[in-house]
Amino acid sequence: MSTLETEIKRRRTFAIISHPDAGKTTLTEKFLLYGGAIAQAGAVKGKKTARHATSDWMEIEKQRGISVTSSVMQFQYNNYCINILDTPGHQDFSEDTYRTLMAADSAVMVIDASKGVENQTRKLFKVCVMRHIPIFTFINKMDRDSRNPFDLMEQIESELGIQTYPVNWPIGSGKEFKGVYVRDKQSIISFTPESEMAFGKHKVAMEEVSLDDPSLDDVLGEQLHETLSEDIELLDGASYEFDLEKVRNGELSPVFFGSALTNFGVEPFLESFLEMTTSPTARNSTAGLIDPFDPEFSAFVFKIQANMNKAHRDRLTFMRVCSGKFDKEMDVLHVQGGKKMRLSQPQQMMASEREIIDEAYAGDIIGVFDPGIFSIGDTVCSPKKNFEFESIPTFAPEHFMRVRQKDTLKRKQFVKGITQIAQEGAIQIFQEPDTGMEEAIVGVVGVLQLEVFEYRMKNEYNVELFKEGLPYSYIRWIDSKDIDPKSLKLSSDTKLVVDFRGNYLLLFSSEWNIRWALEKNEGLELSEFNRGALQ
Ligand code: G4P
Repeated sequence: MSTLETEIKRRRTFAIISHPDAGKTTLTEKFLLYGGAIAQAGAVKGKKTARHATSDWMEIEKQRGISVTSSVMQFQYNNYCINILDTPGHQDFSEDTYRTLMAADSAVMVIDASKGVENQTRKLFKVCVMRHIPIFTFINKMDRDSRNPFDLMEQIESELGIQTYPVNWPIGSGKEFKGVYVRDKQSIISFTPESEMAFGKHKVAMEEVSLDDPSLDDVLGEQLHETLSEDIELLDGASYEFDLEKVRNGELSPVFFGSALTNFGVEPFLESFLEMTTSPTARNSTAGLIDPFDPEFSAFVFKIQANMNKAHRDRLTFMRVCSGKFDKEMDVLHVQGGKKMRLSQPQQMMASEREIIDEAYAGDIIGVFDPGIFSIGDTVCSPKKNFEFESIPTFAPEHFMRVRQKDTLKRKQFVKGITQIAQEGAIQIFQEPDTGMEEAIVGVVGVLQLEVFEYRMKNEYNVELFKEGLPYSYIRWIDSKDIDPKSLKLSSDTKLVVDFRGNYLLLFSSEWNIRWALEKNEGLELSEFNRGALQ
């Protein structure tokens, strides 16, 4: 096998998603610990704080103690090269979060065992489903009282519309938590309070266990033994069978129970996950599917982080390598800009450090300094090629604000500011049809984005804004080609707007209004994502 093939085959690039507090940071940290990438717990969180100090406009984050940006980390484990894409939750939830999922080949969903599926998970999950990427579920905090595991399975299946396959099954929870039964190996990995926090100490306690063996009563207690036997019988009889093909198509989610904080179930999860998930997969483009093993380099931009260093006014642009090998000395073609260039200071996050890199392979994420030439979705490839990757969908904003500059003499800065910030993908801008650029409607997925936008307009472009919150929370792209948007019958609290590509959209204040518009306008077709056509 060539080096290129070996390197790409050992890569695993996944996003980790959860509702805030489910344990995503803790689990990520444990992955890094097992991979030897960090020496102690707390390093990841510690880094988050350190990073705050280095970026000015992120002052807002610091004040609120949360992180606006999603980060990327690479580490090695058992000869796998793993790229984790973190997706922020909570108020800092933004379009960035969605876009990160476009760069991943699979997703790990962390669920709090006492809470089940929560709102943020649901939103992110929709994107995973749209992309048909494999989804692995880690049900965390089993050392705390949990909900009934069957209820949790049922909830994942009904709310997220995916089948589940529990790879292991919990024996009790909270104070009664005894560990898990591993279904295919018929073994028990035991959890004891003494082993709590002892890193890597949870070993398989019993191999090839027969659940009929009465001596299990001594180990688990009569009650838990009985429940486990009944549960497993029920699972074997009634649940979905394991099917790797379905896992890889995102139809069946392997489920693992564990407790990230106490290291319980983390390593077995990591091992199974790495085996079951795929190495980098082919991506669609104007030249058809691009094979990751194609030796010619290609990548697309999925995230732009502004003004990491205010003095230089530059931005850090993140690209997902989709094929071949990147070498820092190589010339690349920025397809949308039509220019040959070298990428400046290509870097990767290695666990908690940012490092300049010499090379990267399909599956990797690289960050490059960008004086403002790249936009979200752009393709960068070897000059021998010339194609564009399928564009990244635009996700529906849920918060809207009308803005204009306070000082009318600052019109130029106003237009420059909103255009550049929109180009980075930090906001979406819309206008009412037939109006000029004196004012704009700004739409965002997470409310914190509006604050960041306002702060940046003032600090980077020196523009103070008049702003007016708008009562809309739903946006729909008009898909029907043969309808004149201006002649649509709309209720008084629905607004027609245009995006910067000239597409017409509708802003609604309620789902009721959406139904009303569909009923009153025959042939009207609306969609929640602007998938962006292949050009
Ligand atoms: P997030 O990134 O998904 O937001 O969650 P994070 O890992 O920060 O975890 C949220 C809280 O849940 C943390 O407690 C963390 O210690 C705790 N936690 C994570 N995994 C487990 C687990 O398996 N069992 C138990 N019992 N707790 C768990 P915190 O007090 O909010 O934060 P900290 O002060 O411990 O950092």
